[in-house]
Amino acid sequence: MEERIRIARLDGDSPHVPILAEWAHDTWGHLHPGRSLGSAIAILRDECGAGGVPSVFAALHGDTPVGTASLVADDMSDRLDLTPWLASVFIRLGWRGRGIASRLIQHVEQEAQAHGHHRLYLYTPDQQPLYRRLGWRDIEQRDYHGEAVTIMQCDVRIPSHTIAIAR
Ligand SMILES: CC(C)(COP(=O)(O)OP(=O)(O)OC[C@H]1O[C@@H](n2cnc3c(N)ncnc32)[C@H](O)[C@@H]1OP(=O)(O)O)[C@@H](O)C(=O)NCCC(=O)NCCS
Repeated sequence: MEERIRIARLDGDSPHVPILAEWAHDTWGHLHPGRSLGSAIAILRDECGAGGVPSVFAALHGDTPVGTASLVADDMSDRLDLTPWLASVFIRLGWRGRGIASRLIQHVEQEAQAHGHHRLYLYTPDQQPLYRRLGWRDIEQRDYHGEAVTIMQCDVRIPSHTIAIAR
């Protein structure tokens, strides 16, 4: 656990939005042919909601962003039946392997649950072990934009005191 890292919700006016959009644009831009960095920044600003879906979170070291993850309504253009999605999980080089992505992922899970979403989806070409360790399970293998990916699902745990009340 990286103690000096805090996780913060970003609002659309945040000065951190452009760098987060640049990370995503550099890493996943091929999935959105023709999308400029300017468009990616505008889209990310729109995803900076006040709570629930959509939300954008940053892992901050002091006031410097070192990672990000989002909660969005859809992340796969032909699977609008699945919602919401954990998306855009990214940690800056030099900050990986310290549990920061794991913290961000669990933060997004809690955000979803707090807003009534008890099932979440994601897709990944190569990070299945990370998500499996956090309780996600594979539900579909497919080709997406020429890449073999796994769609994964997380059933967010309902706290035991809530179950007791429901009984
Ligand atoms: C994939 C990615 C998000 C993982 O971020 P991360 O912060 O390194 O992830 P975590 O630290 O939570 O977990 C990763 C590894 O560190 C290990 N780890 C977790 N906490 C640790 C700690 N305190 N000390 C050392 N290692 C730790 C985990 O066990 C895991 O081990 P692995 O190498 O066997 O997988 C990051 O590598 C990245 O941004 N990659 C490029 C973008 C990308 O692929 N995003 C995912 C899209 S689906």
